[in-house]
Amino acid sequence: MKGAPRYACQQCGAAYPKWTGRCEACGAWNSLAEEAPRSGPPKGLGGGKGHALEFVALKGDSSGPARRRSGIAEFDRVCGGGLVAGSAILVGGDPGIGKSTLLLQVAAALAAPGAPTAYITGEEAVDQIRLRAERLGVAASPVQLATASSVRDIAASLDGARPPHFVVIDSIQTMYLDTLDSAPGTVSQVRGAAQELIALAKRRGFVLVLVGHVTKEGLIAGPRVLEHMVDTVLYFEGERGHQFRILRAVKNRFGATDEIGVFEMGDRGLAEVPNPSALFLADRNGDDGEDGGVVAGSAVFAGIEGTRPVLVEVQALVAPSVLGTPRRAVVGWDATRLAMVTAVLDARCGLSVGANDIYLNIAGGLRIVEPAADLAVAAALVSALTETPMPADTVVFGEIGLSGRVRPVSHADARLKEAAKLGFSEAWTPQRRGHNGEGLRTKPIGHLSELVARLAPRRRRQVAVAE
Ligand code: TYD
Ligand code: MG
Repeated sequence: MKGAPRYACQQCGAAYPKWTGRCEACGAWNSLAEEAPRSGPPKGLGGGKGHALEFVALKGDSSGPARRRSGIAEFDRVCGGGLVAGSAILVGGDPGIGKSTLLLQVAAALAAPGAPTAYITGEEAVDQIRLRAERLGVAASPVQLATASSVRDIAASLDGARPPHFVVIDSIQTMYLDTLDSAPGTVSQVRGAAQELIALAKRRGFVLVLVGHVTKEGLIAGPRVLEHMVDTVLYFEGERGHQFRILRAVKNRFGATDEIGVFEMGDRGLAEVPNPSALFLADRNGDDGEDGGVVAGSAVFAGIEGTRPVLVEVQALVAPSVLGTPRRAVVGWDATRLAMVTAVLDARCGLSVGANDIYLNIAGGLRIVEPAADLAVAAALVSALTETPMPADTVVFGEIGLSGRVRPVSHADARLKEAAKLGFSEAWTPQRRGHNGEGLRTKPIGHLSELVARLAPRRRRQVAVAE
């Protein structure tokens, strides 16, 4: 058909009649791929008659959906307390991060004679999966394994008399619909294949898990369209060199988002980490154990991930810059937020942090999104700049405003409780009345300059020496 869109941006879904190097809608380079043309213009409703809707009252039976638990508590909690029949879950993550490992473990935990479970892979051979199952110690589980990539075949197998209760599709990018001309992995294939499978899951009432690879830009390739189609979106993340893996809910129609599950990758697969704070802080005690002190440039942040308090170490390195534009390297935090904190330190506290090269790292591979980490980041920066270690056994949290004021944050009690549980004795917190100290000394900080004064009262001399 003349003028019908034949190219679609794989990032945002915008359609073009001609190929161009750059998507005008989202600005992505090289993201256009050929798609099958639409067979005709969308038809109106025509003369066909629809069914009348049955309206109901807002009030009524609202007992939540029944949930099935896998018994892997970290996974169940991220899913909102268990899996809901008929729901679709997208698990995204970098290649090699451990998605297949996690889902094979979950499938094995869920499989039972009365609860058939299917693991369908378009990525690996049966032998590879069997080897993995052997290694994970789950080979005896009655999981039904198949290799396939045709959605038609998969749908035919799942639509039988006894559909499975739990189905893993690894990965959605390898699946294809033979009714579409485009190659597997393109927007229209991923969208079409997912649509078919999700509709089937709803109709037959099984839990569908789609594995999705994430592109360099951090989007689930396919792209965002998948996130809208499923009920739950989980990201599996972690630093490649680290053994920690974090499963994070970014969307959940059946539970809270921002919930995380923490796992440790070992030679027998992923093990649950019920107490992540101890794990994230383990290196800290190990490194500096000999003299019992803490190095400069480190601060412990009392954070909240979902419903759970998690303590993590914020590490900063501040070095005089030889470049016109000082270098910034941030791992696990937001670079824009760092720029704001350094600007406030410079403008409101009379420091000159911003002119230096700054390296900021959240130890253990956790990615923090809370503004409550501002004060801990500032503490690590000031500590690094003035070469003054933070007092040991002190946690820090608080949001910083542009004026330098430190604002209260949510869940202060839960943060303090976790810190007390892990043996910390002092907390630097925003001013807040009615604190329940939980056995900790809380030292309120109302303005960022108070932090600087407390941490490095002789900072001017020390800064001069550093320069
Ligand atoms: P995998 O689940 O294949 O990742 P994905 O499906 O996200 O691409 O996991 C790959 C990595 O995990 C691989 O590099 C090997 C490692 N691994 C372990 O360290 N221990 C194990 O028990 C298993 C099964 C894998
Ligand atoms: Mg895989």
